[in-house]
Amino acid sequence: MKIHVLGSAAGGGFPQWNCNCNNCKGFRDGTVKAQARTQSSICVSTDGEHWLLFNASPDIRNQLASFEPLQPARKLRDTGIEAVVVMDAQIDHTTGLLMLREGLPLDVYCTDPVFEDLSTGYPLFTMLKKWNGGLQRKALSLDTETGFTVPGIENLRVHAMPLDSNAPPYSPRRDNPVPGDNIGVFLQDTKTGGSVFYAPGLGKIEPHLIPWMEKADVLLVDGTLWRDDEMIFQGVGTSTGQKMGHLAQSGEGGMLEVLAQYPDKRKVLIHINNTNPILNEESEERSIVESQGVEISFDGMEIEV
Ligand code: MLT
Ligand code: MN
Ligand code: ZN
Repeated sequence: MKIHVLGSAAGGGFPQWNCNCNNCKGFRDGTVKAQARTQSSICVSTDGEHWLLFNASPDIRNQLASFEPLQPARKLRDTGIEAVVVMDAQIDHTTGLLMLREGLPLDVYCTDPVFEDLSTGYPLFTMLKKWNGGLQRKALSLDTETGFTVPGIENLRVHAMPLDSNAPPYSPRRDNPVPGDNIGVFLQDTKTGGSVFYAPGLGKIEPHLIPWMEKADVLLVDGTLWRDDEMIFQGVGTSTGQKMGHLAQSGEGGMLEVLAQYPDKRKVLIHINNTNPILNEESEERSIVESQGVEISFDGMEIEV
């Protein structure tokens, strides 16, 4: 299975258009050594030709242009994207569906609560009906053990699991999420056995996740924040990671401590917020992460399992 990171940043991307935090300003004026990053999305394929897109980022147009296999040009109008899975109804994970309108109909897998938000507060499914039948909603099974397959993607089984994170700010369930507002996935290539656990929004390591994390070859997980109070510390916001549903890397019980329990696995952080000091290639925080054998994803990163 090939995993291609289309976008490695959290909402806003890096640098964020209106932000002058240490990282964003430093990147612009050349005093911070870092790579620009687009918003959160990956695509996965078992044959290099048919791709399953996880999350549709507002930056999808540039992301598609940056990765040739997604434009295989087999016919006049074509795409390598067979279907989309959206893991929550957040703006950074769903806005790209609007940009895919010329290619509709397209199968979109999501849970009931996500479908509800995307039919009411942010009614993408409703709006896009006028485009050739629109987004074809496919129910996403949360029967984790059995999992499901996606037509057109051979030899891939998707095991989705609910995550205790948060519903989007616009959702009536913000701060009161229900199972299915956020999911993680364990993906397995049924031919090679290779597997990845992918969770770009992971607020807590709940007991039901542990067997899947233990089983995966690669852990591709939430890298949003270095410290839980980072937005407050940097003066750019009032929310904590815990409130937003993102487990910070540092501190007791933080993501680095969690990942240290898996010394033999490949461990990669994704969905990195522009305030996170690990984006600065010369920062102490980045060297801490790297010294613990944890990789920091970047746009265009390829992972093969
Ligand atoms: C989040 O995951 O909390 C988001 O990145 C927020 C956003 O898109 O604004
Ligand atoms: Mn996000
Ligand atoms: Zn910033």
